[in-house]
Amino acid sequence: MNPFTLKEYAGPEYFCNRKDETKRIINAIENQRNLTLSSIRKMGKTGLIHHVFNKLNNTKDYDLVYFDIYHTSSLLGFINKFGTSLLTEKESFPEKIKRMIKSFISSIRPTITYDSFTGAPVFSFNINNEASGVNTIEEIFGFLEQRSRETPVVIAIDEFQQIADYPEKNVEALLRTNIQKLLNVNFIFSGSDKHLLTSMFTDAKRPFYQSTEFMHLEEIPASEYSEFIKTNFNNNAISIEDEAIKNILTMTRRHTYYVQYLCNKLYGSEEKNIDNKVVKEVFFNILNENEVYFSEYRDLLTKQQWDLLIALAKEEGISQVTTSKFIKKYNLSTTSTVRRGIKSLLEKKMIYKKDAKYYVYDVFLAKWLTRL
Ligand SMILES: Nc1ncnc2c1ncn2[C@@H]1O[C@H](COP(=O)(O)OP(=O)(O)OP(=O)(O)O)[C@@H](O)[C@H]1O
Ligand SMILES: [Mg+2]
Repeated sequence: MNPFTLKEYAGPEYFCNRKDETKRIINAIENQRNLTLSSIRKMGKTGLIHHVFNKLNNTKDYDLVYFDIYHTSSLLGFINKFGTSLLTEKESFPEKIKRMIKSFISSIRPTITYDSFTGAPVFSFNINNEASGVNTIEEIFGFLEQRSRETPVVIAIDEFQQIADYPEKNVEALLRTNIQKLLNVNFIFSGSDKHLLTSMFTDAKRPFYQSTEFMHLEEIPASEYSEFIKTNFNNNAISIEDEAIKNILTMTRRHTYYVQYLCNKLYGSEEKNIDNKVVKEVFFNILNENEVYFSEYRDLLTKQQWDLLIALAKEEGISQVTTSKFIKKYNLSTTSTVRRGIKSLLEKKMIYKKDAKYYVYDVFLAKWLTRL
């Protein structure tokens, strides 16, 4: 197996560091604090949650539930995900059915279907109006309360910012009220829209105000990532020069997914001695392979946005974007066009802001743009 995984969490041996973060999350859980985990996309939030769960699983002291609500667009979707995930952990299928009939959702009848890919049973709840949605949520929480009397439960809800887009206006309040009541259940809320998540949890007018501990996930420290990369190549009889590792981390800005991707490709190149030349070659191959996608973006953006994107890519982190120096250098028409362009590129998640500087999100796209 390629040691640089690009898919789901593959176990602690394929996971680089995050020791402090893991400790901090476990400490929050052990002390009954709910926690909100945020970062830019693909920094490793989901991986970290699974890593924490892996650690906790070994102790068997907790019942662990994870679900991702990225593809939900309403309270009903949320309920279906939540209800399903509560029932798919640990217990066997007949046990679940028994438990469900005994203590869970007696008033509404879940339908059982089978996932067309995995064949796993999926429960769905037929909810036809908001009032029955509210009832179901309360029943689910009631079930959870019962279950948590046996073992403490940890629930991770990934892509939590999604609930802000639900058409029902009361979802935040509804969840907050129910979450507050559960003494033996801890929550991890995770998401990548920092703005939205921050406002959900720090805006005094919103239900989740000051209800959780906040944790922002940053890049893995260079020394630790270097060690991880070196060990994983060396263990597979591949040598890699220190300079090459340094270059990998710089070229990818230590953005986890891109580091993993580049290393995965390097491993796959079957090169037994990796130096800077090999790294560059593989890196540029990646850019070429993705060229089709990258050029698509041009059609999705206006000419001004596209030019601005190229300028930001070339600067590799710039804060003063409305100065005449920057505008002249890249021929970007006016200050107000740039301002609007920044806003729109942020909304489209083409760029992000870190320490007051703007960066093109996709590391490979950024490098490709600098060649235009
Ligand atoms: N500490 C780590 N060591 C090695 N690989 C990691 C680590 N953290 C994450 N990864 C890998 O990097 C990729 C991106 O991580 P992950 O999906 O966890 O990020 P994310 O922040 O949840 O992204 P998104 O915002 O898209 O949900 C995955 O392939 C994951 O396996
Ligand atoms: Mg994720």
